[in-house]
Amino acid sequence: MARVVLVTGASGGVGLALCRRLLEEDGRLHLCIACRNEQTCENTRERILAYHPSAQVSTVEVDLGNLASILRAARELRCRFNRLDFVYLNAGIMPNPHVNFKALWRGLLTGKVLHMLTTAEGIMTQTDRLNGDGLQEVFATNLFGHFMLVRQLQALLCGNEKPSRLIWTSSSNARESAFSLSDYQHAKGQESYSSSKYATDLTSVVLNRKYNDQGLYSSVVCPGLVMSNMTYRILPIFLWKLLMPLMWLIRFFAKTYTLTPYNGVEAHVWLFKQKPEYLDCLVKYHSCTTGLGRCYVEARKMDVDEDVAEKFFQKLLELEEETLEKYSDLLD
Ligand SMILES: NC(=O)c1ccc[n+]([C@@H]2O[C@H](COP(=O)([O-])OP(=O)(O)OC[C@H]3O[C@@H](n4cnc5c(N)ncnc54)[C@H](OP(=O)(O)O)[C@@H]3O)[C@@H](O)[C@H]2O)c1
Repeated sequence: MARVVLVTGASGGVGLALCRRLLEEDGRLHLCIACRNEQTCENTRERILAYHPSAQVSTVEVDLGNLASILRAARELRCRFNRLDFVYLNAGIMPNPHVNFKALWRGLLTGKVLHMLTTAEGIMTQTDRLNGDGLQEVFATNLFGHFMLVRQLQALLCGNEKPSRLIWTSSSNARESAFSLSDYQHAKGQESYSSSKYATDLTSVVLNRKYNDQGLYSSVVCPGLVMSNMTYRILPIFLWKLLMPLMWLIRFFAKTYTLTPYNGVEAHVWLFKQKPEYLDCLVKYHSCTTGLGRCYVEARKMDVDEDVAEKFFQKLLELEEETLEKYSDLLD
């Protein structure tokens, strides 16, 4: 039976490379790509079919920053499929990124330079805003939209003959210090991206606790530093291109400088081939590339407090309840 794989954020960067590499692994799978609108869905489908002309690729429109769109997409998926084997929760945003060049310069002179260059700790901030649903946009798109999608797809993910899998694209920028339970949408700070990725890690841990016995497993991955539309918003493309020889050099020391989307999805593809029962739910799987360009995966223990994770999950459930009340007309 062909496996059914749903990928969000498939239109470019990590997501598009992931679709292509998954089809290289298994040309028989049914790939359903979730993109923001009809035009992006069709363009992305054509780009994938150009490399894999006989692949089964379907599309679903979803704007992960819009709760009504998520509920509609979930309803459509429930009508179309009776199970999902893999859901790659990959779409993400980092709006209005600012680099603190002073902190970057100071960091270059300290012993923590590699840590700074691989996690962006202390050198990156973002300006967030409220979306149309009244939620902080980064939290809503990167985490809560995906959380709602998963919960709405529960019937397709739980109780199947074989385990189903959730694979979240997190980041090594996920940091406990950027996250707070009392401001979990990160309305008050300037590190909404880091907070949303830490929240992703917490959510994945609790999803395992709640759903493993129903055959649903969740993992988090970090693609490393990848050149994509997201990074091209941090610095202009020409600057990245100028910096590229330096980055190849840094890669000899910083293995998470995967640099290309193809390399960046190594961990996503590796997980596709693993039995979930043997994975550690407290580990993040990092895509890595050696200085000579060999790709591999490194498992690193996550810095998560399981008690905080549980409390945060309760808050997500409360927010979900509010949402469902508001959009009851979109439920079955
Ligand atoms: N690049 C890196 O160095 C890096 C490092 C660590 C983690 N990540 C994570 O990797 C994931 C993919 O990022 P990327 O580097 O491939 O960036 P990207 O090229 O900007 O891709 C982001 C994807 O998310 C989609 N997306 C954004 N907002 C959406 C929304 N509201 N609804 C539906 N789809 C939406 C985009 O669709 P549109 O085309 O419609 O905008 C695009 O397909 C993200 O979760 C990111 O946080 C990236």
